[in-house]
Amino acid sequence: MSTSITLTRPDDWHLHLRDGAVLQAVLPETARHFARAIVMPNLVPPVVTGAQAAAYRDRILAALPDGMAFEPLMTLYLTEDTDPDDVAAAHASGLVKAVKLYPAGATTNSASGVRDFDKVRGVLERMAEIGLTLCMHGEVTDHEIDIFDREAVFIDRVLDPLRRDVPGLRMVMEHITTSSAVDYVRAAERNLAATITTHHLVINRNNILVGGIRPHYYCLPVAKRESHRLALVDAATSGDARFFLGTDSAPHVDAAKETGCGCAGCFTATNTMSILAEVFDREGALDRLEGFTSLHGPDYYGLPRNGDTITLTKGDAVTYPDKIASGDGPVTVFDPGMALHWRVA
Ligand code: NCD
Ligand code: ZN
Repeated sequence: MSTSITLTRPDDWHLHLRDGAVLQAVLPETARHFARAIVMPNLVPPVVTGAQAAAYRDRILAALPDGMAFEPLMTLYLTEDTDPDDVAAAHASGLVKAVKLYPAGATTNSASGVRDFDKVRGVLERMAEIGLTLCMHGEVTDHEIDIFDREAVFIDRVLDPLRRDVPGLRMVMEHITTSSAVDYVRAAERNLAATITTHHLVINRNNILVGGIRPHYYCLPVAKRESHRLALVDAATSGDARFFLGTDSAPHVDAAKETGCGCAGCFTATNTMSILAEVFDREGALDRLEGFTSLHGPDYYGLPRNGDTITLTKGDAVTYPDKIASGDGPVTVFDPGMALHWRVA
Protein backbone atom coordinates (compact mmCIF):
# COMPACT_ATOMS: atom_id res chain seq x y z
CA MET A 1 0.00 0.00 0.00
CA SER A 2 1.47 3.33 -0.98
CA THR A 3 1.77 6.06 1.62
CA SER A 4 3.18 8.69 -0.69
CA ILE A 5 2.36 9.71 -4.23
CA THR A 6 3.99 12.32 -6.46
CA LEU A 7 1.98 13.94 -9.24
CA THR A 8 2.65 16.46 -11.95
CA ARG A 9 1.35 19.68 -10.39
CA PRO A 10 -2.44 19.80 -10.94
CA ASP A 11 -4.57 22.41 -12.70
CA ASP A 12 -8.20 23.28 -12.09
CA TRP A 13 -10.22 23.41 -15.32
CA HIS A 14 -13.24 25.22 -13.79
CA LEU A 15 -12.82 27.68 -10.93
CA HIS A 16 -14.64 30.70 -9.51
CA LEU A 17 -12.27 33.25 -8.01
CA ARG A 18 -14.73 36.17 -7.70
CA ASP A 19 -13.35 39.66 -7.20
CA GLY A 20 -12.36 42.11 -4.45
CA ALA A 21 -12.20 40.84 -0.87
CA VAL A 22 -13.34 37.30 -1.69
CA LEU A 23 -10.76 36.98 -4.50
CA GLN A 24 -8.07 38.07 -2.06
CA ALA A 25 -9.18 35.45 0.46
CA VAL A 26 -9.71 32.44 -1.81
CA LEU A 27 -6.92 32.79 -4.38
CA PRO A 28 -4.17 31.39 -2.09
CA GLU A 29 -6.34 28.33 -1.38
CA THR A 30 -6.09 27.38 -5.06
CA ALA A 31 -2.59 28.70 -5.79
CA ARG A 32 -1.14 26.64 -2.92
CA HIS A 33 -1.66 23.41 -4.90
CA PHE A 34 -2.66 24.30 -8.45
CA ALA A 35 -0.47 25.84 -11.14
CA ARG A 36 -3.27 27.11 -13.37
CA ALA A 37 -7.03 27.37 -13.49
CA ILE A 38 -9.69 28.12 -16.05
CA VAL A 39 -11.27 31.13 -14.36
CA MET A 40 -15.01 31.55 -14.72
CA PRO A 41 -16.26 34.90 -16.02
CA ASN A 42 -19.58 35.13 -14.12
CA LEU A 43 -18.74 38.30 -12.22
CA VAL A 44 -21.17 41.19 -11.84
CA PRO A 45 -20.95 42.59 -14.49
CA PRO A 46 -19.74 39.55 -16.46
CA VAL A 47 -16.35 39.33 -18.19
CA VAL A 48 -17.53 39.64 -21.78
CA THR A 49 -14.77 41.38 -23.76
CA GLY A 50 -11.07 40.79 -24.15
CA ALA A 51 -10.39 44.09 -22.39
CA GLN A 52 -12.49 43.01 -19.41
CA ALA A 53 -10.65 39.67 -19.27
CA ALA A 54 -7.28 41.43 -19.33
CA ALA A 55 -8.33 43.72 -16.49
CA TYR A 56 -9.67 40.77 -14.46
CA ARG A 57 -6.44 38.85 -15.05
CA ASP A 58 -4.49 41.81 -13.69
CA ARG A 59 -6.68 41.97 -10.57
CA ILE A 60 -6.12 38.23 -9.98
CA LEU A 61 -2.35 38.56 -10.33
CA ALA A 62 -2.36 41.62 -8.05
CA ALA A 63 -4.21 39.58 -5.39
CA LEU A 64 -1.63 36.77 -5.47
CA PRO A 65 0.49 36.75 -2.28
CA ASP A 66 4.22 37.31 -2.72
CA GLY A 67 6.09 34.11 -3.40
CA MET A 68 3.11 32.23 -4.84
CA ALA A 69 2.97 31.31 -8.52
CA PHE A 70 -0.32 30.89 -10.36
CA GLU A 71 -1.45 31.35 -13.94
CA PRO A 72 -5.08 32.32 -14.47
CA LEU A 73 -6.43 30.96 -17.76
CA MET A 74 -9.04 33.51 -18.72
CA THR A 75 -12.47 32.91 -20.23
CA LEU A 76 -15.05 35.14 -21.90
CA TYR A 77 -18.72 35.06 -20.99
CA LEU A 78 -20.71 34.39 -24.16
CA THR A 79 -23.63 36.75 -24.74
CA GLU A 80 -25.91 37.17 -27.72
CA ASP A 81 -23.97 40.39 -28.49
CA THR A 82 -20.47 38.89 -28.28
CA ASP A 83 -18.26 40.16 -31.11
CA PRO A 84 -16.47 37.30 -32.94
CA ASP A 85 -13.54 39.60 -33.81
CA ASP A 86 -13.01 40.53 -30.17
CA VAL A 87 -13.06 36.85 -29.20
CA ALA A 88 -10.58 35.97 -31.96
CA ALA A 89 -8.22 38.79 -30.93
CA ALA A 90 -8.34 37.76 -27.25
CA HIS A 91 -7.52 34.20 -28.30
CA ALA A 92 -4.74 35.19 -30.72
CA SER A 93 -3.02 37.27 -28.03
CA GLY A 94 -2.92 34.21 -25.76
CA LEU A 95 -5.09 35.89 -23.12
CA VAL A 96 -8.20 33.76 -23.42
CA LYS A 97 -8.31 29.95 -23.35
CA ALA A 98 -12.06 29.35 -23.53
CA VAL A 99 -15.45 30.94 -23.97
CA LYS A 100 -18.16 30.11 -21.45
CA LEU A 101 -21.74 29.37 -22.41
CA TYR A 102 -24.38 29.91 -19.73
CA PRO A 103 -27.94 29.26 -20.81
CA ALA A 104 -29.64 32.43 -19.50
CA GLY A 105 -30.87 31.90 -15.96
CA ALA A 106 -29.12 28.56 -15.40
CA THR A 107 -27.00 29.53 -12.40
CA THR A 108 -25.29 32.30 -10.40
CA ASN A 109 -24.97 35.49 -12.49
CA SER A 110 -26.13 33.91 -15.73
CA ALA A 111 -28.79 36.47 -16.66
CA SER A 112 -26.67 37.77 -19.56
CA GLY A 113 -26.30 34.27 -20.99
CA VAL A 114 -27.72 32.79 -24.17
CA ARG A 115 -31.44 32.48 -24.93
CA ASP A 116 -31.39 32.15 -28.71
CA PHE A 117 -28.61 29.94 -30.01
CA ASP A 118 -29.00 31.28 -33.55
CA LYS A 119 -27.60 34.56 -32.25
CA VAL A 120 -24.29 32.99 -31.20
CA ARG A 121 -23.83 30.71 -34.20
CA GLY A 122 -21.36 33.15 -35.81
CA VAL A 123 -19.14 33.26 -32.71
CA LEU A 124 -19.22 29.48 -32.36
CA GLU A 125 -18.25 28.96 -36.00
CA ARG A 126 -15.40 31.40 -35.59
CA MET A 127 -14.25 29.55 -32.47
CA ALA A 128 -14.25 26.28 -34.40
CA GLU A 129 -12.06 27.87 -37.08
CA ILE A 130 -9.50 29.19 -34.62
CA GLY A 131 -9.56 26.19 -32.26
CA LEU A 132 -10.95 27.98 -29.20
CA THR A 133 -12.77 25.79 -26.67
CA LEU A 134 -16.39 26.30 -25.60
CA CYS A 135 -17.09 25.51 -21.94
CA MET A 136 -20.74 24.81 -21.26
CA HIS A 137 -22.97 24.99 -18.24
CA GLY A 138 -25.02 22.03 -19.39
CA GLU A 139 -28.50 22.61 -18.04
CA VAL A 140 -31.67 23.80 -19.71
CA THR A 141 -33.62 26.45 -17.85
CA ASP A 142 -37.20 25.77 -18.94
CA HIS A 143 -39.56 26.00 -15.99
CA GLU A 144 -41.38 22.83 -16.94
CA ILE A 145 -38.20 20.74 -16.76
CA ASP A 146 -37.51 19.26 -13.34
CA ILE A 147 -34.24 20.53 -11.88
CA PHE A 148 -32.93 16.96 -11.55
CA ASP A 149 -33.52 16.38 -15.29
CA ARG A 150 -32.06 19.60 -16.64
CA GLU A 151 -28.65 18.18 -17.55
CA ALA A 152 -30.01 15.16 -19.42
CA VAL A 153 -32.47 17.37 -21.32
CA PHE A 154 -29.64 19.79 -22.19
CA ILE A 155 -27.77 16.95 -23.87
CA ASP A 156 -30.76 16.09 -26.08
CA ARG A 157 -32.03 19.57 -26.82
CA VAL A 158 -28.89 21.70 -26.93
CA LEU A 159 -25.60 19.82 -26.89
CA ASP A 160 -26.33 17.13 -29.43
CA PRO A 161 -27.82 19.54 -32.03
CA LEU A 162 -24.94 21.99 -31.45
CA ARG A 163 -22.34 19.29 -32.04
CA ARG A 164 -24.01 18.42 -35.34
CA ASP A 165 -24.29 22.08 -36.38
CA VAL A 166 -20.71 23.06 -35.55
CA PRO A 167 -18.81 19.76 -35.62
CA GLY A 168 -15.38 21.40 -35.52
CA LEU A 169 -16.05 23.16 -32.21
CA ARG A 170 -14.10 21.84 -29.25
CA MET A 171 -16.34 21.65 -26.22
CA VAL A 172 -16.16 20.88 -22.54
CA MET A 173 -19.32 19.86 -20.77
CA GLU A 174 -18.63 21.20 -17.33
CA HIS A 175 -19.33 19.84 -13.86
CA ILE A 176 -21.25 16.82 -15.13
CA THR A 177 -23.56 15.20 -12.60
CA THR A 178 -25.34 12.34 -14.34
CA SER A 179 -24.69 8.94 -15.87
CA SER A 180 -26.36 10.36 -19.02
CA ALA A 181 -23.54 12.88 -19.36
CA VAL A 182 -20.88 10.24 -18.68
CA ASP A 183 -22.39 8.00 -21.35
CA TYR A 184 -22.74 10.85 -23.84
CA VAL A 185 -19.12 11.93 -23.44
CA ARG A 186 -17.87 8.35 -23.70
CA ALA A 187 -19.75 7.93 -26.97
CA ALA A 188 -18.26 11.08 -28.52
CA GLU A 189 -15.32 10.37 -30.76
CA ARG A 190 -13.82 13.84 -30.81
CA ASN A 191 -14.09 17.44 -29.68
CA LEU A 192 -15.92 16.66 -26.45
CA ALA A 193 -14.62 16.29 -22.91
CA ALA A 194 -16.12 16.80 -19.46
CA THR A 195 -15.00 18.18 -16.15
CA ILE A 196 -16.03 16.57 -12.89
CA THR A 197 -16.02 18.43 -9.59
CA THR A 198 -14.63 17.26 -6.29
CA HIS A 199 -17.94 17.54 -4.48
CA HIS A 200 -19.96 15.57 -7.04
CA LEU A 201 -17.61 12.63 -6.47
CA VAL A 202 -18.52 12.71 -2.78
CA ILE A 203 -22.12 13.84 -2.23
CA ASN A 204 -25.50 12.83 -3.58
CA ARG A 205 -28.82 14.60 -3.13
CA ASN A 206 -29.41 12.99 0.26
CA ASN A 207 -26.51 15.01 1.62
CA ILE A 208 -28.40 18.19 0.75
CA LEU A 209 -31.83 17.20 2.00
CA VAL A 210 -31.80 14.46 4.66
CA GLY A 211 -32.03 15.49 8.32
CA GLY A 212 -32.37 19.19 7.52
CA ILE A 213 -31.47 21.34 4.56
CA ARG A 214 -27.71 21.80 4.17
CA PRO A 215 -27.02 24.93 2.19
CA HIS A 216 -23.29 24.30 1.88
CA TYR A 217 -24.01 21.20 -0.22
CA TYR A 218 -26.28 23.10 -2.59
CA CYS A 219 -24.64 23.77 -5.94
CA LEU A 220 -25.58 23.78 -9.60
CA PRO A 221 -25.96 21.47 -11.31
CA VAL A 222 -27.51 20.06 -8.14
CA ALA A 223 -26.13 16.72 -6.92
CA LYS A 224 -28.23 13.78 -8.17
CA ARG A 225 -29.03 10.33 -6.77
CA GLU A 226 -26.32 7.87 -5.69
CA SER A 227 -26.27 5.88 -8.95
CA HIS A 228 -25.15 9.05 -10.73
CA ARG A 229 -22.43 9.76 -8.20
CA LEU A 230 -21.13 6.25 -8.75
CA ALA A 231 -21.07 6.84 -12.52
CA LEU A 232 -19.01 9.98 -11.96
CA VAL A 233 -16.54 8.14 -9.72
CA ASP A 234 -16.26 5.46 -12.36
CA ALA A 235 -15.56 8.02 -15.10
CA ALA A 236 -13.05 10.02 -13.04
CA THR A 237 -11.10 6.97 -11.92
CA SER A 238 -11.26 5.15 -15.27
CA GLY A 239 -8.21 6.78 -16.82
CA ASP A 240 -10.34 7.96 -19.77
CA ALA A 241 -8.64 11.18 -20.94
CA ARG A 242 -11.99 12.81 -21.77
CA PHE A 243 -12.66 13.31 -18.04
CA PHE A 244 -10.66 15.73 -15.92
CA LEU A 245 -10.86 17.88 -12.82
CA GLY A 246 -12.78 21.14 -12.76
CA THR A 247 -13.48 21.77 -9.09
CA ASP A 248 -16.17 24.40 -9.68
CA SER A 249 -14.99 25.70 -6.31
CA ALA A 250 -17.57 28.49 -5.97
CA PRO A 251 -17.16 30.61 -2.83
CA HIS A 252 -20.11 32.52 -1.43
CA VAL A 253 -19.94 34.15 2.00
CA ASP A 254 -21.96 32.32 4.64
CA ALA A 255 -24.55 35.10 4.79
CA ALA A 256 -25.38 34.42 1.12
CA LYS A 257 -25.61 30.63 1.63
CA GLU A 258 -27.40 30.44 4.99
CA THR A 259 -30.51 32.41 4.12
CA GLY A 260 -34.05 32.05 2.79
CA CYS A 261 -32.79 31.89 -0.82
CA GLY A 262 -29.23 30.64 -0.64
CA CYS A 263 -26.70 30.87 -3.45
CA ALA A 264 -25.51 27.76 -5.27
CA GLY A 265 -21.88 26.77 -4.93
CA CYS A 266 -19.51 24.58 -2.88
CA PHE A 267 -16.14 25.98 -1.86
CA THR A 268 -13.67 23.12 -2.28
CA ALA A 269 -10.36 24.81 -3.15
CA THR A 270 -8.89 24.27 0.33
CA ASN A 271 -9.21 20.49 0.61
CA THR A 272 -9.75 19.31 -2.96
CA MET A 273 -6.50 17.41 -3.37
CA SER A 274 -6.96 15.57 -0.04
CA ILE A 275 -10.53 14.64 -0.96
CA LEU A 276 -9.59 13.43 -4.43
CA ALA A 277 -6.73 11.31 -3.11
CA GLU A 278 -9.13 9.73 -0.60
CA VAL A 279 -11.69 8.99 -3.33
CA PHE A 280 -9.14 7.53 -5.74
CA ASP A 281 -7.46 5.54 -2.93
CA ARG A 282 -10.79 3.97 -1.95
CA GLU A 283 -11.32 2.96 -5.57
CA GLY A 284 -7.83 1.45 -5.79
CA ALA A 285 -7.11 4.01 -8.52
CA LEU A 286 -4.38 6.22 -7.04
CA ASP A 287 -2.30 5.53 -10.15
CA ARG A 288 -5.00 7.36 -12.18
CA LEU A 289 -5.21 10.45 -10.02
CA GLU A 290 -2.45 12.24 -11.93
CA GLY A 291 -4.24 11.80 -15.25
CA PHE A 292 -7.43 13.27 -13.80
CA THR A 293 -5.86 16.24 -12.01
CA SER A 294 -2.78 17.02 -14.08
CA LEU A 295 -2.57 15.44 -17.54
CA HIS A 296 -5.93 15.08 -19.31
CA GLY A 297 -6.83 18.76 -18.92
CA PRO A 298 -3.76 20.35 -20.51
CA ASP A 299 -3.77 17.68 -23.20
CA TYR A 300 -7.36 18.49 -24.17
CA TYR A 301 -6.73 22.24 -24.12
CA GLY A 302 -3.51 21.82 -26.11
CA LEU A 303 -1.42 23.40 -23.34
CA PRO A 304 1.85 22.08 -21.93
CA ARG A 305 1.69 19.89 -18.85
CA ASN A 306 3.18 21.47 -15.74
CA GLY A 307 6.88 20.89 -15.23
CA ASP A 308 6.91 20.56 -11.44
CA THR A 309 5.25 18.13 -9.05
CA ILE A 310 3.39 17.89 -5.76
CA THR A 311 3.62 15.04 -3.29
CA LEU A 312 0.78 13.71 -1.16
CA THR A 313 1.46 11.58 1.88
CA LYS A 314 -0.96 9.36 3.79
CA GLY A 315 -1.15 9.50 7.57
CA ASP A 316 -3.33 10.66 10.47
CA ALA A 317 -6.54 12.51 9.69
CA VAL A 318 -5.87 15.79 7.90
CA THR A 319 -7.09 18.98 9.54
CA TYR A 320 -8.17 22.04 7.58
CA PRO A 321 -10.07 25.18 8.52
CA ASP A 322 -13.90 25.05 8.65
CA LYS A 323 -14.03 28.54 7.19
CA ILE A 324 -11.82 30.96 5.31
CA ALA A 325 -12.12 34.56 6.50
CA SER A 326 -12.68 37.24 3.88
CA GLY A 327 -13.23 41.00 4.09
CA ASP A 328 -16.87 40.32 3.15
CA GLY A 329 -17.37 37.62 5.81
CA PRO A 330 -16.50 33.94 6.28
CA VAL A 331 -16.68 31.35 3.49
CA THR A 332 -17.38 27.77 4.63
CA VAL A 333 -15.00 25.10 3.36
CA PHE A 334 -16.68 22.02 1.86
CA ASP A 335 -17.10 19.20 4.39
CA PRO A 336 -16.66 15.87 2.58
CA GLY A 337 -18.29 14.03 5.49
CA MET A 338 -15.39 11.63 5.87
CA ALA A 339 -11.94 11.68 7.42
CA LEU A 340 -9.20 12.59 4.96
CA HIS A 341 -5.79 10.99 5.26
CA TRP A 342 -3.85 12.38 2.32
CA ARG A 343 -2.10 15.70 2.78
CA VAL A 344 -0.14 17.74 0.30
CA ALA A 345 3.44 17.74 1.56
C1 NCD B 1 -21.42 28.73 -9.50
C2 NCD B 1 -21.24 30.13 -8.89
O1 NCD B 1 -21.56 30.29 -7.72
O2 NCD B 1 -20.75 31.03 -9.59
N1 NCD B 1 -22.29 27.98 -8.65
C3 NCD B 1 -22.41 26.65 -8.60
O3 NCD B 1 -23.26 26.13 -7.87
N2 NCD B 1 -21.61 25.86 -9.27
C4 NCD B 1 -21.93 28.87 -10.89
C5 NCD B 1 -21.86 27.59 -11.68
O4 NCD B 1 -20.78 27.13 -12.04
O5 NCD B 1 -22.92 27.04 -11.99
ZN1 ZN C 1 -18.98 26.94 -11.92
